[in-house]
Amino acid sequence: MSSDLISSSNLFFFNHTLTFIFGITTGVTIFTILRTLQDFKATSQQSTNNAVKTVADQDAEYIKKRIEADFTISRETLLRVTKHIVMEMKRGLHSDGQTLKMIPSFVTNLPKGTETGSYLALDLGGSNFRVCEILLSTDGTRVRCRQKKFIVSEELKKGTSEMLFDFFADAVDIFIREVLGESTSDFNAEYKKLGFTFSFPIKQTALNQGTLMVWTKGFTTSGVVGKDVVNLLQEAFHRKNLRITAAALVNDTVGTLISHAYSDPQTNAGVILGTGTNAAYVERIENIPKWTGGPVASGKMVINTEWGAFDEDHIVIPLTKFDKKLDRASNNPGKQTFEKMISGLYLGEISRYALVDLMKTGFIFKTKNLEDSLLSKPYHFETAYMSRIERDHSKDLSDINALLGDVFKIFDSTLEERSVVKRVCELVGLRAARLSAAGIAALVTKMNKLDGCTVAIDGSVFEHYPHFGNRMRDALFELLGISAENIDFAQARDGSGQGAALIAALADNV
Ligand code: BGC
Repeated sequence: MSSDLISSSNLFFFNHTLTFIFGITTGVTIFTILRTLQDFKATSQQSTNNAVKTVADQDAEYIKKRIEADFTISRETLLRVTKHIVMEMKRGLHSDGQTLKMIPSFVTNLPKGTETGSYLALDLGGSNFRVCEILLSTDGTRVRCRQKKFIVSEELKKGTSEMLFDFFADAVDIFIREVLGESTSDFNAEYKKLGFTFSFPIKQTALNQGTLMVWTKGFTTSGVVGKDVVNLLQEAFHRKNLRITAAALVNDTVGTLISHAYSDPQTNAGVILGTGTNAAYVERIENIPKWTGGPVASGKMVINTEWGAFDEDHIVIPLTKFDKKLDRASNNPGKQTFEKMISGLYLGEISRYALVDLMKTGFIFKTKNLEDSLLSKPYHFETAYMSRIERDHSKDLSDINALLGDVFKIFDSTLEERSVVKRVCELVGLRAARLSAAGIAALVTKMNKLDGCTVAIDGSVFEHYPHFGNRMRDALFELLGISAENIDFAQARDGSGQGAALIAALADNV
């Protein structure tokens, strides 16, 4: 029994020893396996990280180079763009339905600088509607202006024609009562001619008549395309019992040209580089084969080029994938190609697309989530921010840091990331300036004014975007050589108000 016991206890001992040994062995084995697995995981994680890093670094270099290359327009390309604009201008002067609409403005005289009187000017440029009273003083050299601005809401931009034109009539009514201090029912504008600046592609059929061809700059208001906008305005005035008659319908570029020519007779072109872009210039009647309006005493006509539509057929300007994305998501896909690469409504959005791409590919803001930042929000990156970014010359780009945090909720950016943001803005801004210069080189070439003329330029991009004018000037030298010295870029202001008044004043001479 004892032996049984011994043996059984031995067995017991043996069993437990075995279990113990097995347990330890298993434990050790499991521990070893786990450890090995962990080590393996860590090693492979590290090697994956290394691999990702290497690939990412290569990608980063590639992405950087690609973005630089995509946005850079060489001198050769710019020369081709200029030549092509001249060609398209000729085609547009020849017949309707071309890419460049080349619209005769019915303005056939430049002001003499002696025009006088009191005028009303209405100005729809984009997000603002302005009502102004313009006084051209008796010596013909001074202009006085009283004005009131009204914001055109997004709702109005997308609403109906009646809503929009009633809003204009209401604004005029408020202006007459509040600014002029007159009662609307007594107001008789016969002694005050009205110029209506409507800065969209209008097919002009008389000086005070014209139909909207297509909306631009984010407007989609229904019931206006194909209609005479002066008629729509007069109907709205009628609904509000306002006895005012429009004497002139004006594009802002034409107004800019005319108002600048009032003080500088060398002015032969007016350009807008603002929310949208466009140019007008003086053309000789014999160069406008499509003109069927009969003889013109001056032999000249101001042409509204509507150059914003240039290259809609994508022939000369290299587009980046960001331009294509912006276009597809816009209110007017396939339209206004040149405008979308130049004007204030779009420059910020192009930069945003490029930055989002850099963020998605891990080139910048790696640790941040795109959706948490406001960089993912369309049109949140305003062109005004690009100006601010390009103006930051501090060593640590501290203002860009503040802007990224305040506006986009991107905090703790590195200096390198901020330099990338700045570089993207530079590339987009530089390209816009160079393309604008190509447009101006084309105008000057077409007018045969290489020996000298003034180009009046208005608009927020030209006025406020840092280095824009200088970059244009550099590009103009690349394109025209020494002749560029003969071309004067003059900052124009309020062509839309003063120009409309002057054109109303010139109305009798047409
Ligand atoms: C319009 C032009 C206008 C320009 C500048 C463009 O979108 O089509 O008519 O002159 O913007 O305001």
